[in-house]
Amino acid sequence: MFINVTKTAGKIWLLAFLLLHISKCLKAKEIETELDEEGHSDNGDHNAQSSENSHHEQPEPPVILSNYTVTPDVPFTGDTLTIVCQFSELNTDISWFRNWFLIHNDVRINMTTNIRTQSVLYALTVKDLTMEDAGTYICKSNSNGRSQVQIIPLLIKPVTIIQTSNTDIVCDGNKVNLTCCTNDISIFNVQWKVTGGLSIIGTETLNSTCATYTVQANTSLCPSDKSGQKTNYTCDFQGRNGARSWKEIQVTYVRKANVEMKDPGLVSVQQPLVLSCQSDVPSFDKVIWSINTVDNIIDPIRFPHYETIENGSAISTLTVNHVTLDWSGTYYCTFYQSRTHSTGTVTLNVGHCRFQRRFKLIQFKQIKSAAIHSLLVAASNLIIIMTIQ
Ligand SMILES: *[C@@H]1O[C@H](CO)[C@@H](O)[C@H](O)[C@H]1NC(C)=O
Ligand SMILES: *[C@@H]1O[C@H](CO)[C@@H](O)[C@H](O)[C@H]1NC(C)=O
Ligand SMILES: *[C@@H]1O[C@H](CO)[C@@H](O)[C@H](O)[C@H]1NC(C)=O
Ligand SMILES: *[C@@H]1O[C@H](CO)[C@@H](O)[C@H](O)[C@H]1NC(C)=O
Ligand SMILES: *[C@@H]1O[C@H](CO)[C@@H](O)[C@H](O)[C@H]1NC(C)=O
Ligand SMILES: *[C@@H]1O[C@H](CO)[C@@H](O)[C@H](O)[C@H]1NC(C)=O
Ligand SMILES: *[C@@H]1O[C@H](CO)[C@@H](O)[C@H](O)[C@H]1NC(C)=O
Repeated sequence: MFINVTKTAGKIWLLAFLLLHISKCLKAKEIETELDEEGHSDNGDHNAQSSENSHHEQPEPPVILSNYTVTPDVPFTGDTLTIVCQFSELNTDISWFRNWFLIHNDVRINMTTNIRTQSVLYALTVKDLTMEDAGTYICKSNSNGRSQVQIIPLLIKPVTIIQTSNTDIVCDGNKVNLTCCTNDISIFNVQWKVTGGLSIIGTETLNSTCATYTVQANTSLCPSDKSGQKTNYTCDFQGRNGARSWKEIQVTYVRKANVEMKDPGLVSVQQPLVLSCQSDVPSFDKVIWSINTVDNIIDPIRFPHYETIENGSAISTLTVNHVTLDWSGTYYCTFYQSRTHSTGTVTLNVGHCRFQRRFKLIQFKQIKSAAIHSLLVAASNLIIIMTIQ
């Protein structure tokens, strides 16, 4: 039974496609090629038989009708497609074909018959359309040896969304637009979802091509401990007929840090210099130390600095074991966070302080002896003189 139907189908097919292609003014050669392709398909058995038989009899040409509807008229991938063919003859056999092949029911495909008083409506439903479902559909009715076909070309469009690329947003109170754009926006209902570390809610707008989500991040919305965290903004496009697509835009919120460097006080030649610089934002990409100008970077290999994170602050410490007079100057430490950076600064003089130790000793003894007190005055004068040098 099944094979018979297919045999007849094969005959009808040949004619249907001849008519279709002639009507499209295509060359006969192309038709031959396409029929050859059919012969090599998975359904080879049935097709081989039908092409043999088609040489024996002269089949009655099928009547070509055009009484069908396609919903939606422009289907997208993911949509549910319904093609309804109307035939006036009752009690007919119906077969559906796509690109040469008989269509079978499966999880995505459903064929129904709806008998009216004057006609029969045959519906083919295909769920979750993919680009591979495009092609030429044919519904063929067979009633008392008379065949009627309807030929339905079907194009399927992919859902193409172009979104803002992943981005860093500095929490400076400026408005930033995140967009998802498609030329077919009119058929979609767009929803935005926010997930991740810092859920800053924005406002949604829509124009003829783009869904826009505007966020305005200020410092009060960006706690310093959340700086550098990633948040996903997802635009979800839901089509009326089942198509669905979404894009994720990953946003890294960055809060600009306040950076301060402590004044180390008096530093003397040959003594170690320890400079400490604190940022109120615990996350950073890198820290750079420089002297006299921001561009004059202190070689971190010869003079390393170390970073620690404590109580929600980042601290960078630069140590130079034995300073010389050349280490006098203005120091800069710069914490970098993506597109933003903050600098702390301090100016220091390296002193010639040979007597400093003895000065301390004298200071200790000062209380006990008036004689040593006068020495202290002399010594401290000396120190001051030496320091100014
Ligand atoms: C479509 O089918 C209806 C019902 O059978 C019929 O009245 C109408 O003439 C048909 N239209 C075409 C274009 O075949
Ligand atoms: C087939 O489609 C019809 C009409 O849409 C529906 O009523 C029926 O439940 C469907 N059957 C299956 C098995 O999906
Ligand atoms: C952001 O989007 C809004 C609403 O679509 C628009 O009015 C505004 O001009 C956009 N701003 C920028 C910088 O593109
Ligand atoms: C955000 O999106 C990226 C890329 O799709 C994913 O790897 C990540 O897990 C998402 N993060 C969150 C918090 O949803
Ligand atoms: C729609 O919004 C996008 C993003 O804001 C913008 O680039 C585009 O020009 C807008 N289109 C129209 C027609 O206003
Ligand atoms: C930051 O933005 C929020 C929400 O828009 C607002 O309520 C708050 O007043 C703003 N804070 C500052 C310091 O601008
Ligand atoms: C961090 O907090 C602890 C306890 O409050 C305190 O003892 C310590 O000095 C703080 N460290 C810094 C670098 O502020």
